[in-house]
Amino acid sequence: MLKRRKVRALDTAPKTFALMRMEFVVRAVQLSDRLAEMIRNAGEISEFQSWLRASFSGIHYLRRRETLWEKALNSLPDTPLIFIEFGVAKGYIGHYFFTNLLSERPFHWFGFDTFTGLPRAWRGMPPGTFSSDGMVPDLPDGQFRWFKGLVQETMTEDLISEMFSIDGSRILFFDFDLREPTEFVLESVIDLLSVGDLLYFDEAFDGDERAVINQLLSGHRSFEAIGSTATALLLRVSA
Ligand SMILES: C[S@@+](CC[C@H](N)C(=O)[O-])C[C@H]1O[C@@H](n2cnc3c(N)ncnc32)[C@H](O)[C@@H]1O
Repeated sequence: MLKRRKVRALDTAPKTFALMRMEFVVRAVQLSDRLAEMIRNAGEISEFQSWLRASFSGIHYLRRRETLWEKALNSLPDTPLIFIEFGVAKGYIGHYFFTNLLSERPFHWFGFDTFTGLPRAWRGMPPGTFSSDGMVPDLPDGQFRWFKGLVQETMTEDLISEMFSIDGSRILFFDFDLREPTEFVLESVIDLLSVGDLLYFDEAFDGDERAVINQLLSGHRSFEAIGSTATALLLRVSA
């Protein structure tokens, strides 16, 4: 009798535990939209980490994106730097590099943004999110150049030739969040990238950017992973 009761308890224990976990998630989701979003994000981040492990062996994980940018800079030869930033908003990345990382190093900075925010909704955020009301970042004019409007219109053939004919090492920052402009840019520049150029994807964990990264990885150029954070990925062109 005692034995049978024990067996039954063992049978049901794992099921009960799994049910409790599901119950916890259901209750949390019912409790608040914010909690529901956090749980969804945690799922995506965990899926991103599994994808990273499967796609690149031994990829270096860093907690902060700023540390990953520093790693990017340190991995480049001591040549002039060409930064091409896709998705600027209020200019956090430019300010961070200018204040903390560039000191006397010669560089050119090209930044593309509507400066009126996202052209369409993304992850529950309405169009216009990240707007700087048309204002460009307050950074030195000689080194920083800003291109206002949809990148599909502002990144002309002439501008592409100019950005890719300067001698130096290039870092491309992708932070448009949306698939369409990210895809447009990569299709426009893929054949102009040199071995050693770096590509940073700020939202690689999200479906929009990841779809473009997957296309990139299955295309005719080769890439190695330099590092990642919980949500971002840094690649180097290797062939
Ligand atoms: C997440 S924000 C950039 C954040 C910024 N890199 C930072 O770290 O603070 C995304 C930006 O992409 C811009 N953007 C999205 N699609 C665009 C497009 N097709 N053309 C130009 N800018 C676009 C939005 O205006 C928005 O400012």
